[in-house]
Amino acid sequence: MIEFRNVTKLFPDGTIAVDDFSLVAPSRKITVLVGSSGSGKTTLLRMVNRMVEPTSGGVQIDGEDIVNERPVLLRRRIGYVMQNAGLLPHLTVADNIAAVPKLCGSSHRAARTRALELMETVGLDSHMADRYPSQLSGGQQQRVGVARGLAADPNILLMDEPFGAVDPIVRAELQQELIQLQRELDKTVIFVTHDIDEAFLLGDQVVILATGAKKLQVGSPSEIIENPADDFVAAFIGVDRGRRALRIKHTPNGPVLVDTEGRTQGTLVEDER
Ligand SMILES: Nc1ncnc2c1ncn2[C@@H]1O[C@H](COP(=O)(O)OP(=O)(O)OP(=O)(O)O)[C@@H](O)[C@H]1O
Ligand SMILES: [Mg+2]
Repeated sequence: MIEFRNVTKLFPDGTIAVDDFSLVAPSRKITVLVGSSGSGKTTLLRMVNRMVEPTSGGVQIDGEDIVNERPVLLRRRIGYVMQNAGLLPHLTVADNIAAVPKLCGSSHRAARTRALELMETVGLDSHMADRYPSQLSGGQQQRVGVARGLAADPNILLMDEPFGAVDPIVRAELQQELIQLQRELDKTVIFVTHDIDEAFLLGDQVVILATGAKKLQVGSPSEIIENPADDFVAAFIGVDRGRRALRIKHTPNGPVLVDTEGRTQGTLVEDER
């Protein structure tokens, strides 16, 4: 379990990227952080592996405050898949993946064997092992990024828009593979995206964020779809899902969300508005 406890991040230039954010990401579930650009998603993710230190508040993993752990050791047990795969251009595919087990002390040979295993796990043909990242398609590069994230066999996987840079078909493939992989590997995943469809597809728990990492709503996909916390969330999930936007209709029983045909799509909780 990963717990953010009242974390705030004030950057030196005065930007408040994260303002008093608290959340529990349950073990062996996928928590998706979704929100527009600049809402603080990457900052939150990087607090978990201490690439960003909170200005106040703290992060706990299984009840232990991570400030007590050396960042190098912490990062060895947390996989991190960066936006745009983040591969090293001068290393081959196998060496990009093997870099992680080597850091953890594996021999060159063992690290390469592990890299080839992981390539299979993420659906990459072994004949690509000695290619360079520039010789792969975008989707293949993303797979290498995921393989590298898994390389240390971490219990925790942080994924920052890992499928952002590929076309919709490849993206759908990668999403299905992640679902499959998660069934087998059972990791605690925090996944960042700005795509609400992706959030609802992958998330056991979905966290909708606004600027300052303000939580607009936290819940399972069905909880959010059936009962959006406010009309902003309703519009966000309606518009982005390719549906016609929902609107609020005031009824004797309180406000409800209706679609353009007038069908009720959910209710609004009065005291949250
Ligand atoms: N090192 C930094 N110094 C100053 N401001 C920063 C720094 N890093 C991030 N920020 C600011 O903090 C806010 C949150 O940034 P963050 O990268 O967490 O957003 P994000 O939700 O990941 O956005 P995106 O979807 O575009 O990746 C933004 O306003 C950003 O400009
Ligand atoms: Mg980001």
